[in-house]
Amino acid sequence: MVVIAVDGPSGSGKSSVSKGVARRLGLAYLDTGAMYRAATLWAMDAVGDLADAERVAAAVRGMPLEMGLDPDAPAVRLDGRDVSAAIRTTEVSTEVSKVATNLDVRAELRRRQREIIDVAAQAAGIVAEGRDITTVVAPDADARVLLTASEEARLRRRSLEVHGAADAAAVEATRDQVVRRDRDDATVSQFQVAADGVVTVDSSDLDLEETIEAVLAVVAQVTAAR
Ligand code: DC
Repeated sequence: MVVIAVDGPSGSGKSSVSKGVARRLGLAYLDTGAMYRAATLWAMDAVGDLADAERVAAAVRGMPLEMGLDPDAPAVRLDGRDVSAAIRTTEVSTEVSKVATNLDVRAELRRRQREIIDVAAQAAGIVAEGRDITTVVAPDADARVLLTASEEARLRRRSLEVHGAADAAAVEATRDQVVRRDRDDATVSQFQVAADGVVTVDSSDLDLEETIEAVLAVVAQVTAAR
């Protein structure tokens, strides 16, 4: 019934926030970044050379991907195998922008994402998160949110996630990765500035619960205005 689109850069906390919102409202949850990661893993195995755009796109069109939509356990399956952990390795994180910048891959994943969202919208609804959900995949979503956070806050969160610490050395070790990912991602879609009708929620000074509450407030506001 309700479709909520959430975009944001890496480290903005959008996955945890989107899962939290889905849980609170009893909705399905779609992590579109996980679809790009799964496509990368699949193409690394099936093609090898990720620069071969045509073969990568052909492989992705045939990719037997199943997305789990439960916010408590959003398992990702490739050919029946649970690859939820395998898509989060450093290798996949390093290679994913090569696949995410392939326009034929984007067209295929966009098609699958819209299909998943349409089916879920016939039931309770869905929270879909990524980089181009508010603008390209679901511009007609009931609520559209751009989740931002200062570079400092994003570095601190990523550092805690990757290194288990957020002291100066750990933050520095994370900086390169975050800055490079932002630059690569920005070539795919402009997600750092809110498009028309998209509400920005800045989570720099909010904890997870507070950010979830802020997004829920946006959802309540736009759905009441309908
Ligand atoms: O959110 P994430 O780190 O799991 O995303 C993985 C990659 O996929 C990242 O480089 C950006 C890309 N991506 C995209 O291009 N479009 C989306 N809707 C979601 C992710």
